[in-house]
Amino acid sequence: MNKSELILRTPLIIRFCHWVMVCLFILTALSGLSLFFPSIKLFGLFLGTPQLVRALHPFLGCVVFVLLMYMFARLVAHNIPSRADILWIKNIKEVLKGNEGGMPIGKYNVGQKFLFWCIMSLITVLFITGLIMWRRYFADYFPIEVVRIAIFFHSLAAIGLVLLAIGHAYMAIWVKGSIKGMITGYVSRAWARKNHSLWYQKEMQKKFKQEVLQNRSAKTEPKTELK
Ligand code: HEM
Repeated sequence: MNKSELILRTPLIIRFCHWVMVCLFILTALSGLSLFFPSIKLFGLFLGTPQLVRALHPFLGCVVFVLLMYMFARLVAHNIPSRADILWIKNIKEVLKGNEGGMPIGKYNVGQKFLFWCIMSLITVLFITGLIMWRRYFADYFPIEVVRIAIFFHSLAAIGLVLLAIGHAYMAIWVKGSIKGMITGYVSRAWARKNHSLWYQKEMQKKFKQEVLQNRSAKTEPKTELK
């Protein structure tokens, strides 16, 4: 497809962050599971010795947290609830049937915004409780009751985040073209118009303004005379 027919949806740095974070998230989740269920030997086969897993898990978790916080800073403006979202919620039945077309949807729809806030909240809970229960550096500074409460909420948040991540990946597969967009960075105009019409309109206005400015500067540029 001609590149002028495509719209940049996700810049390279955010895509890079997302996919590195996904790989590390899977490793963190698997290492966390193997710490909770040491009797399941399968994890040990490809994650290394239990000592290595115990040492690596918190560091992996910290990197996932930092990457997600970067994504938070870059994407939060597009995930603020707006008035247009009410229509999406009212028409949830049609949305579930795949008839979103024509609804005024910004860069992300209500489902994506909800997931965004849940993911960011749960990773924050995981980070804080993880620090409290990190025996090597911090756990000694807290009473045992606090560490136990932290372990409880760490486990709950971990289960919640894994389930959300699975739901998120499923939705990404369901909306055709969305994974390709997160890999190449670009989506087609038709995709944008169908799935995120408000965002599409704004992008088109930006493009139009850019073209007008370019044309104006081309006209006002002094012509070089041929001698
Ligand atoms: C194999 C698993 C995954 C796939 C296939 C996937 C796919 C995607 C896709 C296609 C998008 C862009 C959506 C769009 O442009 O409309 C996206 C965005 C995003 N993903 Fe993933 N993802 C996966 C795992 C994860 C995980 C594990 C997390 C975090 C725990 C995550 C967090 C995010 C966030 C925060 C966004 C931005 C969405 C927003 O700002 O509302 N993803 N993902």
